[in-house]
Amino acid sequence: MAQINPSMLSADFARLADEAKAVQGADWLHVDVMDNHFVPNLTLGVPVVEALGRATDTPLDCHLMIEDPDRWAPAYVDAGAGSVTFHVEAAAAPVRLAREIRAKGARASMALRPATPIEPYEDLLPELDMLLVMTVEPGFGGQAFLDVMLPKIRRTRRLIERHGLSLWLQVDGGVSAETIERCAEAGADVFVAGSAVYGAEDPAAAVSALRELAER
Ligand code: DX5
Ligand code: ZN
Repeated sequence: MAQINPSMLSADFARLADEAKAVQGADWLHVDVMDNHFVPNLTLGVPVVEALGRATDTPLDCHLMIEDPDRWAPAYVDAGAGSVTFHVEAAAAPVRLAREIRAKGARASMALRPATPIEPYEDLLPELDMLLVMTVEPGFGGQAFLDVMLPKIRRTRRLIERHGLSLWLQVDGGVSAETIERCAEAGADVFVAGSAVYGAEDPAAAVSALRELAER
């Protein structure tokens, strides 16, 4: 079963509650937290996540593109996120952090930038509920999908199978009606889409159209 997570980065930040309701049928709301250090962009933090959580029944999938996630990630669980993704490039102690996120009651997820290989982290997979393979350089919505990430998605899916694990494999960046089938075929099962959903005239219809393509 494919999960479709609209990225609120492409929504109207002045109307976040309405924008959350505009994607009825989405599995999770993907919330991009950026700190102007790990990536050259600044978005939102704990108070906005907390407010958004009160405004919607759809669970929040928080993607932290921040330095020092060891220090900050647990606060996003307290703020109500159902899933918290940290970047392995920024984490000092990814195993400890994943365990802390799980112990606080959220799904623990780890992200890889395009140039970060999966192989050194094979032994960490059992500590995770989801692995995010970035298919653009993190920082901005609306970028072109990086085809060269497809082999990494394939290799990650093979590792998950080899270890008999059930963690989810998420892709984020440039996912659209043109690219989602290739991602699904390579083994992804959770799809983040920002501009492809919020740039559409009917965001809820875009979510179901993407789901249909991913499950083909
Ligand atoms: C980019 C963010 C993405 C972004 C994706 O760094 O992590 O979640 O919103 O946007 P699209 O789907 O437009 O590439
Ligand atoms: Zn994201």
